[in-house]
Amino acid sequence: MNRIIILTSIYFIFIGNLLAQSASVAAAHPLAVDVVESILKKGGNAYDAAVAAHFSLAVVLPRAGNIGGGGFAVIHTSNAKAATLDYREVAPLSASKDMFVRDENNNNISSLTSKSASGVPGSVMGMWNLYLRYGSRNLSWSDLLTPAITLADTGFFITEKLSEELNYNSSYFILQNPNGCGPFCKDIIWEQGIRLVQSELAETLKGIADYGPNYFYSGPVAKKLVEQNYFTMSDMASYLIRWREPIIGEYRGWEVITMPPPSSGGVALLQLLYGSERDLNTMQELESVASYHDFTELTRIVYEDRARYLGDPDYMDMRTADLLDTSYLDKRFINIDPKRAGKSPNLAVPLGEESSETTHFSILDKEGNSIAATTTLNASYGSKRWVAGFFMNNEMDDFSISPGVPNQFGLIGFEANSIKPGKRMLSSMTPTILVKGDQKVVLGTPGGSTIITNVFQVIRRFCRFGQTLQESVNSKKIHAQAWPEVLYLEEGSFTKKVLRKLKKKGHKIEFKKQIGRFQAVSNGKTAPDVLRTGDSAGRVIFIE
Ligand code: DON
Repeated sequence: MNRIIILTSIYFIFIGNLLAQSASVAAAHPLAVDVVESILKKGGNAYDAAVAAHFSLAVVLPRAGNIGGGGFAVIHTSNAKAATLDYREVAPLSASKDMFVRDENNNNISSLTSKSASGVPGSVMGMWNLYLRYGSRNLSWSDLLTPAITLADTGFFITEKLSEELNYNSSYFILQNPNGCGPFCKDIIWEQGIRLVQSELAETLKGIADYGPNYFYSGPVAKKLVEQNYFTMSDMASYLIRWREPIIGEYRGWEVITMPPPSSGGVALLQLLYGSERDLNTMQELESVASYHDFTELTRIVYEDRARYLGDPDYMDMRTADLLDTSYLDKRFINIDPKRAGKSPNLAVPLGEESSETTHFSILDKEGNSIAATTTLNASYGSKRWVAGFFMNNEMDDFSISPGVPNQFGLIGFEANSIKPGKRMLSSMTPTILVKGDQKVVLGTPGGSTIITNVFQVIRRFCRFGQTLQESVNSKKIHAQAWPEVLYLEEGSFTKKVLRKLKKKGHKIEFKKQIGRFQAVSNGKTAPDVLRTGDSAGRVIFIE
């Protein structure tokens, strides 16, 4: 008997120690996970690994991984310091409020497919600043780009998902790039296992590795972008990242560290978390009619605030603290009718075509340094325009093009998110870290406007309903956003009875095959979104 107890204790001490020395990662491609492992094993920390993962995703996940886009990262270090990095794109200096509005002949410049659809990319400067401020210095900047350069230069075997995307997009690539787009404009049928070599991208990455961000912002890459009329040299040379104070809330004993504007994600997430716990709340159950109803009504209010008040903080009147003030929120939520679906203010025209690709990765190293990073080109392959080996973003579509006109995610906005030179467009990306004592949960997802509600649901399931992180990620999601007045249900998220009763309450329902592609980790655990399509992968990495 005593022997069993002793052996069991030894086992647990051993496993405990191993977990204490373990790091965890979840990302949208197994090769990015391999890169994270190799960087951590070479003595890099979570931030080194994040830089290497970012550049590697630009190679192996070209629909969303990028150097032609931007993103946000939430950081919580081993010594409990929280920070956020904003490497969002900015509008060029020549941009103007009405640049995408239809003229009297009903012609317009496209905010999705034209050269003007691109904001000045922030990713390279973002990664450089992440490396400078948080990198371990055990590895050089160029060490962190080496895995990406190798993947681009010698190629990698494409997955089935990537082969399908390349075939689906090939005619768009050719249309958008009359002067060619390297391997992407090749006249072939892509199949799983074909090696994708990206020589031009390798050369660009090599330049960034050797010369730093200047190679991109004032050197050869900037010159190409200027020659091809995307930006001026001053657009490129004046790009700056921002370190921003995180938004920090509390939910069920967890500290919630999340992204402030110009992402709407953090504000909306904390509004939803507060709303779901209010005194008269009807969200006591997970998948009941009352809970789905109340969720829809909460989002009606939260997405209205998003549309009315949120934008680039450097240009914004509303203080985020005011939007999170509990007496303000109580007043907003008090009118929710538990019986009937409400009405969103009459502000918008119907939802546009949605395409969804962004990518998120989460890393927690053995010291407890953590980073949640979400990055994007906006649409899948952005504007599908290809320069110097990489695709350009179409993030300008995230501005409100004109009052009440929805973007590709059906999101609308007003003056707070109007286009101005040098301004950042409002985002929904919600990288978030939960902290309780020495426990951390690092999470996020792609999905445009659904990012916010997805993050909300995973946090609620994990913190309030005691599901494991993987169960919370796997669970079927729902989404609503005030406009259009629709409750979206992911397949498998409802029973016929729930559906019938929701309709009876006046909800218009539509179904979605898939919502998001979550990537979460916690101490000694990884929870990638492997049940949904894509190549998500996670790993717990043991380090000596
Ligand atoms: O910043 C935003 O909110 C959007 N540009 C994100 C786009 C996105 O998530 C696409 N989907 N997966």
